[in-house]
Amino acid sequence: MKFAQPTGAWAGALAASLLCLSAQAAPLTRDNGAPVGNNQNSQTAGPNGPALLQDVQLLQKLQRFDRERIPERVVHARGTGAHGEFTATEDISDLTLAKVFEKGSTTPVFVRFSTVVHGLHSPETLRDPRGFATKFYTADGNWDLVGNNFPTFFIRDAIKFPDMVHSFKPDPRTNLDDDSRRFDFLSFHPESTRTLTLLYSNQGTPASYRQMDGNGVHAYKLVNDQGEVHYAKFRWATLQGIRNFDPKENEAMQGKDYSHLSRDLIEAIDRGDHPKWDLYVQVLKPEQLADFEFDPLDATKIWPDVPERKIGQMVLNRNPQNIFQETEQVAMAPANLVPGIEPSEDRLLQGRLFAYADTQLHRVGTNGLSLPINRPQVEVNNGNQDGAMNFGQTTTSVNYQPSRRENREETPRAVYSQLPLSGTTQQAPIQREQNFKQAGELYRSFSAKEKKDLINTLGGELARTDDEAKHIMLSFFYKADTEYGEGLTRVAKADLNRVKTLAAELQD
Ligand code: HEM
Repeated sequence: MKFAQPTGAWAGALAASLLCLSAQAAPLTRDNGAPVGNNQNSQTAGPNGPALLQDVQLLQKLQRFDRERIPERVVHARGTGAHGEFTATEDISDLTLAKVFEKGSTTPVFVRFSTVVHGLHSPETLRDPRGFATKFYTADGNWDLVGNNFPTFFIRDAIKFPDMVHSFKPDPRTNLDDDSRRFDFLSFHPESTRTLTLLYSNQGTPASYRQMDGNGVHAYKLVNDQGEVHYAKFRWATLQGIRNFDPKENEAMQGKDYSHLSRDLIEAIDRGDHPKWDLYVQVLKPEQLADFEFDPLDATKIWPDVPERKIGQMVLNRNPQNIFQETEQVAMAPANLVPGIEPSEDRLLQGRLFAYADTQLHRVGTNGLSLPINRPQVEVNNGNQDGAMNFGQTTTSVNYQPSRRENREETPRAVYSQLPLSGTTQQAPIQREQNFKQAGELYRSFSAKEKKDLINTLGGELARTDDEAKHIMLSFFYKADTEYGEGLTRVAKADLNRVKTLAAELQD
């Protein structure tokens, strides 16, 4: 049988496509590797007929396009990432056996900065904490320090996180932003007073990711080779100097470029202006936890007066080659810990140990940790297997442990430290709350202009809040600092006597 020769428009398109193909070194292929004959025209039944189901290139191209999106992160959806390295500059073997802190060693890192509340393409000018998450590809496996620019958090117990996030996200009925919803929720949570003060200060609108600090927020445990435990808080101190926008500058940027934070980082790295941060640690011995008026394992608190020790430096020096493969698919999780670094008993951190790995099994997939951006630099060697998109090569019959045929050894230095316990199970608030003192100290540390910007911004939002929640929130700020509370009450057009009465009932 003879096939009809191409004629008319079809012949023209075919000739053009062949011309193109011959001009290129690499042929265009389908996903099965087969070369594509014509990528310009669908296959149709005659010049005026419908498209044909047998046009596999058309079908596959649309199918793949239809599936390009994975779920965005439920929080911190908008982010930008960069590669770099961390150098340990101090000997802290008295504190930890973690290889990442061996003096003089360098460890590759990937950092993802982010906004928190809104979606993947939302403006970076929006008032928010900023995420500062670092994946260290250490010689002992991956360690993720998933932190924020603020050193404290709004709440102290993971069971409250979904409610808190719902109250910060747009109204599910209207999809409109409405800060009064968060004040309605937070009026039950005086522990949020300090972090709210940060959020509505100019620190809620950083001018550049390069020009902000990062904080681990929680206490972690450092464990040395004697099994001794120290509680530790980490802070990244920017060497570029801190710079935030005031409300006017922020509004101007919003009208000009709502991707200013990503653009600034990418352009700086491209031109060889590589940003750096020093890593600091504060440490407490377990017995020192009792010495404070507040619970030092409460994520709504900083550790004032505890000396900081500089332990290393990070430089970011390479932009991702593909945002989706690296920045979007990176799976940062507080559960990614390495020998020598363990979680503390902080109730917020304990919930995070579960939540990130769990969401990533859904967001990135069962084998997401095998992707190049997530894969450790050391070999993964266990009996975990199969699942969707598995491309690991299992070459042994022994997919269990222990085995007399081919054992996978346990590592004594990786055994967890031990925590003495007593008492019963319970569901109760922490004992030493001290919700207001550090908020007042923060307010008093601001310059006159910063105080004015904060009072106008926060007071303006509180003015639009329901009467009862507004007065309760104002009483929190008044309890933290009377000048702060009075200023906000004036801008929010609230009743100062009522605020004072409510504040008098609060304990600190
Ligand atoms: C119980 C409290 C919290 C829960 C349940 C929680 C949950 C989550 C979840 C589900 C994600 C998305 C992860 C992903 O899809 O890869 C996320 C992202 C993130 N969270 Fe939290 N979070 C909590 C508190 C915090 C705190 C206290 C901090 C800061 C210390 C923080 C910093 C971040 C950062 C930086 C990201 C983005 C990581 C990235 O860039 O990939 N979160 N959080």
